Amino acid sequence: MANELKPNIYSVGAVDWDRRLFDELIPLPDGTSYNAYLIKGSEKTALLDAVDPAKTTVLLDNLVKAGTEQIDYIVAHHAEQDHSGAIPDVLLFYPDAKVVTNAKCKAMLVDHLHIDPDRFLVVEDGQELSLGDKTLRFVFIPWVHWPETMATYIPQDKILFPCDFFGSHLATSSLYVEDEPMVYEAAKRYYAEIMMPFRAAIKNNLKKIADLQIEMIAPSHGPVYQRPQFIIDAYKDWAGDDVKNEAVVAYVSMHGSVRKMVEHFVDALIERGIKVRQFNLSGVDIGELAMALVDAATVVIGTPTVLVGAHPLAAYAAMLTNALRPKTRFVSVIGSSGWSGKMLEQITGLIGNLKVDVIEPVVAKGLPRDADFESLDKLADKIAAKHKEIGLI
Ligand code: FEO
Repeated sequence: MANELKPNIYSVGAVDWDRRLFDELIPLPDGTSYNAYLIKGSEKTALLDAVDPAKTTVLLDNLVKAGTEQIDYIVAHHAEQDHSGAIPDVLLFYPDAKVVTNAKCKAMLVDHLHIDPDRFLVVEDGQELSLGDKTLRFVFIPWVHWPETMATYIPQDKILFPCDFFGSHLATSSLYVEDEPMVYEAAKRYYAEIMMPFRAAIKNNLKKIADLQIEMIAPSHGPVYQRPQFIIDAYKDWAGDDVKNEAVVAYVSMHGSVRKMVEHFVDALIERGIKVRQFNLSGVDIGELAMALVDAATVVIGTPTVLVGAHPLAAYAAMLTNALRPKTRFVSVIGSSGWSGKMLEQITGLIGNLKVDVIEPVVAKGLPRDADFESLDKLADKIAAKHKEIGLI
């Protein structure tokens, strides 16, 4: 369905209610949408982004419903296929259309989709393209979450189209944000899963758009923001340097030893005034884990020893945390070992990206004894002291 956001600006993308996985990695508990926008100027018509190839027919139907006889420009904000994948088909239906994007994105679209290089119009940061009574101003916002990402701002309507930036994986029949707490959760999950590793770039891009008068943000996933400050403030908080008095304890236990350690340790942290998010890595939703990593000052990984090393699920959690680069300040490991192994070296070797203080781990031999519980109490003391040092307690 083509919905009009403002006079002659239509939402023409597709809702994907059924998709449950992105990148064969990221769970989508609420589905998603691939938003595309049609801008009808007095002289030219532009389509901002396309949709995932699975939804090409929905986009083409919506363009027909919006009475689109001609498209002059297809603006590609981002080369990832959930937005660009349908561009080759749109080019077939609208043979005069040019793909408008930056040089990096052009190269990627040629590589990923084999679009004819002659079909492009390459633009620079800050360049404007007139559609007659509406102007497309291109604002480069690199690294949200690929290097070529850019946004379009329409000054006449004060709308920003930032593609993935500020988006949320949320399938909904509502064009606009109606339930801010619900969208906050979905947007935070999305930020955690793909934007968090590029926190420095996110901060720069927030500064870059600060001078624009924005009355509406129309992202490429999830509903449109009629109160843009809501999501801008959320992003400032998530990407800012402050951590919260929280510890993420992510563990796996095979025969109960690590579970006993985790239960004792989590109680010890709570007694010391630290909020805890505990995750059993066996069957964890990695989106939930990623969200918890956005704010936590401390991360502790719990692992048994198997195949003479860390449990692969614990190694996966360490590798994922390393890739997501949260602003976490302190890390430790707790675990159990039957005889010996390289469990500790493996886990600490997997978190080289993190600028963290590694607090001395606690490893029990087999089922934990009183001395191990005392060591866990001491570890909780050290973490509480670290949180106090940085003003969290
Ligand atoms: Fe929604 Fe990075 O694609």
